Amino acid sequence: MITTRSAFFPILFTLLLSGCSDSDPETSSTDGKELYSLYCEACHKSNGSGKFLEGIPANRSTRLSYNQVVALVRKGDPARPDMPAFVHLTDKQADAIVDYLFSLRIY
Ligand code: HEC
Repeated sequence: MITTRSAFFPILFTLLLSGCSDSDPETSSTDGKELYSLYCEACHKSNGSGKFLEGIPANRSTRLSYNQVVALVRKGDPARPDMPAFVHLTDKQADAIVDYLFSLRIY
């Protein structure tokens, strides 16, 4: 009985982990456009205009600095609770996304 139970928890844990990565797919790509379409586009749209009616701001016209956007994307911001954090991104990937976002920039 004890052996059955100790085998169950690692399996459950693995299932939970794989459940998470399905909704937030990981990739090793460092292509900003590709990463943006994978992680940001569903909410902010491909051109960064956001979805006004759903309360999603136009990230292409953000007044945040480059470094602030990198921090927001990687760690989230308590002042912006509805923006998800993408903690698994590498430095290079986060930079690539923000470079791409800033190439869409409109003031
Ligand atoms: C699940 C939907 C969702 C996804 C995915 C998402 N965002 Fe956001 N984002 C939001 C929402 C909602 C806000 C507003 C947050 C708030 O005010 O609480 C926001 C805010 C922002 C802002 C700040 C805009 C401003 O000036 O106030 C930036 C920049 C931003 N997102 C960039 C990104 C980037 C880059 C990605 C991809 C890595 C991304 N977002 C993915 C929903 C999303």
